[in-house]
Amino acid sequence: MLKRLQKNIRIADVIFPLSLPVIVFLIVFLFAPAYAEGAVKLHYPPDKVIMELELVNFSLEVSGGSADIIKVRKNGNEIQSITPDEAFECFAVPLNLGENAITVSVLKDGLEVFTSGVTVYRRSDLESQYAKPPAAYRKDYFHMKDFPQCTACHILDAKDHDMKPVSFNSYGAGTAGGETKGAAVSTCYSCHKKMASYPYVHGPVAVWSCLSCHDRDSERTYSVKKPDTEVCFRCHKEQKDDWESKKYTHGPVTIGKCAICHSPHASQYPYNLYKPTWDLCVNCHAEKGSGKHVLGDSFSIEGHPTKDRPDPVRIGKELSCASCHSPHASNYEHLWAFEAESIFDLCKKCHFDK
Ligand code: HEC
Ligand code: HEC
Ligand code: HEC
Ligand code: HEC
Ligand code: HEC
Ligand code: HEC
Ligand code: HEC
Ligand code: HEC
Repeated sequence: MLKRLQKNIRIADVIFPLSLPVIVFLIVFLFAPAYAEGAVKLHYPPDKVIMELELVNFSLEVSGGSADIIKVRKNGNEIQSITPDEAFECFAVPLNLGENAITVSVLKDGLEVFTSGVTVYRRSDLESQYAKPPAAYRKDYFHMKDFPQCTACHILDAKDHDMKPVSFNSYGAGTAGGETKGAAVSTCYSCHKKMASYPYVHGPVAVWSCLSCHDRDSERTYSVKKPDTEVCFRCHKEQKDDWESKKYTHGPVTIGKCAICHSPHASQYPYNLYKPTWDLCVNCHAEKGSGKHVLGDSFSIEGHPTKDRPDPVRIGKELSCASCHSPHASNYEHLWAFEAESIFDLCKKCHFDK
């Protein structure tokens, strides 16, 4: 059928009946997208990358008025609509755990002149179902490559002033509220500023001392020494001395994984935790969230409350797993909090002393 049509219809038969304006229109219509496409280019990120943070950065070149509007969709939902005012549009997209299908579409005169889709995988050690990305994904190290396209507007090489003094006394107390002292002189700020826009910001991040932990001279630019304790205990000496002197340390602390529970940068929860304390603990100790813990474990009765009550000892805090257990270390079994020496001693701290 198709063959016969091709044989019988010659180009001339199609072209001649068309008037000149129609031909001109067709030429413009066919060539316009091709022209615009050359002017729009997605420089970052590549497809199928693995990210650990909640954000992925996009950098889109839209030179010479090639775009009226940029639409960003994540997993089918429109999340941003940007009117470009620069030759480069740079923006951060928040990530869900696991796969995120992100589409960037560029519209010019009502027509979609460019569209590009990338899939980004947000990995997490804390959530076992997202710990291992599918085989198609890989890590991409932005700072290991040359990006001459960026240096017209950004500085990419760290300066000495990005390394601020690693001394507790040099930081102001209270970093909540996303205050960004020192942001103005940070090399990293222009591209990573959204990292600190959370209610709880870690001391060194609040003053943009990124190089306190990220090593600019390491083989992989800006890598962080492992285990986490290598960097955390540089400043948290008091905790180091305290916890290392204790008889028992908590599993993840024993192997030096501080950043499995704490964001090294900033978070929505106190102590820069990835989740509120109770949810964090139950993440790995699921059975303790059943409502049967403490009193119900051995007897078939209702358990002891573990949340949604005021903590009678730590005034101003909610009762949580951390009301009875230390998340880090203790001299007593089951990591009893406030150095309770036995289970009875523990009960007493809240019940009989009062
Ligand atoms: C034409 C100038 C220009 C070029 C070239 C440029 N940028 Fe930007 N970029 C900017 C400006 C201006 C901002 C700040 C935008 C703002 O404040 O909203 C910015 C912000 C950013 C941000 C932060 C976005 C956010 O919302 O948090 C990232 C990431 C970024 N740029 C990456 C890049 C990368 C990667 C390249 C090279 C591929 C690049 N930029 C090239 C001008 C440029
Ligand atoms: C031109 C913009 C730009 C500047 C300036 C910049 N970064 Fe980045 N950085 C990126 C982008 C884009 C990524 C890719 C990951 C992402 O989307 O967050 C990245 C990723 C990273 C990573 C993850 C590892 C990697 O190489 O992908 C680290 C760590 C990092 N940056 C640290 C820094 C530090 C520290 C500074 C300041 C000394 C800095 N960056 C300055 C754009 C920038
Ligand atoms: C207290 C230490 C510490 C400070 C300060 C710090 N970081 Fe990080 N950063 C880490 C750790 C730990 C990781 C996780 C890296 C890993 O597991 O390989 C990380 C990861 C990152 C990543 C993402 C890497 C990825 O694989 O997705 C970026 C981007 C980043 N940091 C940028 C910054 C910037 C910009 C600053 C300054 C505002 C900063 N960091 C300050 C400890 C720190
Ligand atoms: C460069 C020094 C430095 C390094 C390295 C460092 N911290 Fe901190 N950290 C601070 C300072 C300063 C504060 C106090 C900020 C304040 O007063 O709110 C702090 C506070 C904290 C807090 C308490 C926050 C609060 O709300 O009370 C936690 C949790 C924490 N750091 C975890 C870590 C972890 C985990 C690491 C390693 C990934 C780390 N820190 C590495 C300097 C550092
Ligand atoms: C299992 C999760 C978990 C791990 C792993 C962990 N923390 Fe914590 N951390 C917490 C919780 C929960 C709190 C808040 C406890 C509370 O509610 O009082 C906390 C509080 C803190 C504080 C502030 C209060 C204090 O005790 O000084 C610092 C500093 C801190 N952690 C640093 C670290 C460092 C450094 C490491 C690695 C050696 C680490 N944490 C590992 C869960 C954890
Ligand atoms: C990332 C996973 C993880 C998180 C999050 C976590 N734990 Fe653990 N926890 C472990 C591992 C691993 C062990 C050691 C293995 C064991 O003894 O079961 C452990 C052991 C313990 C023990 C000692 C068990 C015993 O028999 O003495 C207590 C108590 C405990 N965790 C309480 C908590 C509390 C409270 C929290 C929240 C602040 C928490 N855990 C968060 C992984 C985790
Ligand atoms: C009111 C105090 C209290 C609270 C709150 C509490 N626990 Fe416990 N926890 C205990 C006691 C008491 C034991 C010892 C139980 C026993 O010996 O049978 C224990 C034992 C444990 C153990 C080790 C023994 C085992 O069975 O594996 C883990 C792990 C643990 N708790 C985790 C948690 C988590 C996670 C939470 C928050 C959901 C939590 N606890 C909340 C008092 C508490
Ligand atoms: C960190 C403080 C704390 C510790 C330690 C603690 N409790 Fe409680 N306990 C509470 C709170 C808070 C309530 C709830 C009181 C309320 O609802 O008014 C409670 C309630 C109870 C109740 C009543 C049950 C109910 O549902 O109201 C019993 C019984 C009890 N605790 C026994 C114990 C025993 C046994 C221990 C030691 C294994 C213990 N508690 C350790 C804080 C604690």
